[in-house]
Amino acid sequence: MTATLSLPAPAKLNRMLHITGQRADGYHELQTLFQFLDHGDRLDFTLRDDAAIHLAPAIEGVPAESNLIMRAARLLSEAAVARGQVASSNDLPGVDIRLKKVLPMGGGLGGGSSDAATTLLALDHLWKLELDLDTLAELGLALGADVPVFVRGFSAWAEGIGERLEPAPLDTPWFVVIHPGIEVATPAVFGHPQLTRSSPAISMARALQGGRNDCEVVVRTLYPAVADALDWLDQFGTARLTGTGACVFCAFDDARQASKVLGRLDSERPTWHAFMARGCNLSPLHAALA
Ligand code: C5P
Repeated sequence: MTATLSLPAPAKLNRMLHITGQRADGYHELQTLFQFLDHGDRLDFTLRDDAAIHLAPAIEGVPAESNLIMRAARLLSEAAVARGQVASSNDLPGVDIRLKKVLPMGGGLGGGSSDAATTLLALDHLWKLELDLDTLAELGLALGADVPVFVRGFSAWAEGIGERLEPAPLDTPWFVVIHPGIEVATPAVFGHPQLTRSSPAISMARALQGGRNDCEVVVRTLYPAVADALDWLDQFGTARLTGTGACVFCAFDDARQASKVLGRLDSERPTWHAFMARGCNLSPLHAALA
């Protein structure tokens, strides 16, 4: 029997992000608006005749065993054993996973988290486990704070460390996203003494009117290339940081405006990577599975 599933692992943007506190374990309490983009990685899953799980091609600097895709696959097989659905992981069919990596690492687009969520949903389907989304989101949270929103698949107002999710009625403009060619270390930003950690909590309705990303001040200091990208993009609208960066973005009402900005970028900042994509309120992953 051969079964193959080819699924997207879309990018996300944080349209705003406030840090309202810090938990005893060091994680930060956030309020953020997550939105998906119709742009991202792609993963192909093909069942094998044995029980091995293989991922290809390798990602430079990330050992296969610590890759979030492999960790998601292992976590799901352990959950199937713990729930008594199989006696051992070896009773589940193995899988070849091919990753077409598009999203940058350390970019704030949630690439690794999205790959993990796509893996959880794909293997749940191929292994016929039928775990509900609550259970898959809970498993995902053990892999990273951003994984649950990719498992749920709706644009969301997020609180807690990003796991308390409520659907958010966001507009769906075109975005220009710039990656200024560097990788941001998320723990360095969250651990910085000058990070704002006490923004007053606001309502989702207020956040939908627009808001800043509280990480921006620290990221500008630590990574001048990000500051440069924010300042360059700001001449066309309101430039924002996504997550802890390094990517920055700006919304446009139509595709023509967005592609004009990309054209300017080609001539003025040829070393930066950039793309344009449409914001979506249903994740392309969930649209593909529907
Ligand atoms: O959860 P994730 O692996 O994406 O987080 C990476 C690091 O970012 C964590 O180890 C933590 O230092 C920091 N972080 C945080 N508060 C959050 C999310 C991440 O302090 N809400």
